[in-house]
Amino acid sequence: MDASPLRVAVLGASGYAGGELVRFLSAHPGAQITFLGARDSAGKPLAQVHPHLASLPIASMVLAAVDADAVAEVADVVFLALPNGTTSPLVPGFLEAGMRVVDLAGDFRLPADRYPEWYGFEHPAPGWLGKAVYGLPELFAERISGAALVANPGCYPTPVILCISPLLAAGLIETGPIRVDGKTGSSGAGRAATESSLFASTEESIRPYRVPRHQHTPEMEHGIELATGIAVPVIFVPHLVPTVRGVLITAYASLTDGVTTDHLTDALMASYASEPFVRILAAGEMVDSKRTRGTNVVELQAVADPRTGTAVLVGAVDNLIKGAAGQAIQNFNIANGFDQTTALPTLAVYP
Ligand SMILES: NC(=O)c1ccc[n+]([C@@H]2O[C@H](COP(=O)([O-])OP(=O)(O)OC[C@H]3O[C@@H](n4cnc5c(N)ncnc54)[C@H](OP(=O)(O)O)[C@@H]3O)[C@@H](O)[C@H]2O)c1
Repeated sequence: MDASPLRVAVLGASGYAGGELVRFLSAHPGAQITFLGARDSAGKPLAQVHPHLASLPIASMVLAAVDADAVAEVADVVFLALPNGTTSPLVPGFLEAGMRVVDLAGDFRLPADRYPEWYGFEHPAPGWLGKAVYGLPELFAERISGAALVANPGCYPTPVILCISPLLAAGLIETGPIRVDGKTGSSGAGRAATESSLFASTEESIRPYRVPRHQHTPEMEHGIELATGIAVPVIFVPHLVPTVRGVLITAYASLTDGVTTDHLTDALMASYASEPFVRILAAGEMVDSKRTRGTNVVELQAVADPRTGTAVLVGAVDNLIKGAAGQAIQNFNIANGFDQTTALPTLAVYP
């Protein structure tokens, strides 16, 4: 591999996911940040929009408006941490310019016909969807290696697809509907202030949202089918809980006759034995989102409830790291031939 670092652009650098991309990429030996893109924050230095990054050598780098030609001139790889619907018009131009793309938005995760229903827009570049690789490294690393366009998964689908797929493929759970309950902290909605994201609205509040139309529903179905070849319907109910970071999912599936907690746990352990970012809990241990906070780790746990014939699968990630920026860098590492763990944390801050 070329010893000189890859020149990297981060678009959406003023956002929550963009801030995490900058924090980790700044310590990446194979990456040099050459462009920081934003909209309203254009013209401001990085340290002003992210004061917690003021000690970085690039703290005084000024964020610029997103101009595709200017980005292509100075970067080999572009991370797009922009809102859903804003990346699909940009990506084809970057690919035509020979760049590699990691898209953190949902614009390249689904077949074209799902976008009007689940994202509310006609996909503007359907011909490019076939070029996108779904970037869940623990299941699709071979496809990600060398990929020009990686569609980085959503925060909720990451633990759901990882826990359901091996169990479904092994026949330990039935092919019937999967019920998924999700919980997220307030950073999941991004940095923009809204009435419903105020401290006064979220403190001591637990509430469902977007039931039953959350856009991660078809992504879970699609990802599970990509991994197993089996189509299962997903019912997904997300909730906002009064934390800042962290996603926790609980999935319920019908247990195949005779399957025990040990069978489920052993299957998950065997599937991910060599994966540095997957922690499968032993029978009896319980997932805690706090142990994943600040890390690129996903914790998974499986329990068989023979009384009701149910497999209960629980998973947790830090939504901004394994659920967004960390996974995007893991994909960047695999796509560009770096060790997948480069620049990514596995140890949480605790308590
Ligand atoms: N937050 C999460 O937990 C999470 C998890 C997984 C995936 N994602 C995905 O990651 C992406 C970013 O999410 P986020 O939470 O970081 O959002 P965010 O905090 O709201 O940040 C959005 C960023 O995009 C910029 N931006 C907004 N509209 C733009 C436009 N039209 N053109 C150029 N730049 C624009 C903003 O710049 P200004 O502020 O300067 O206007 C800001 O830098 C989204 O697609 C989201 O779905 C987020």
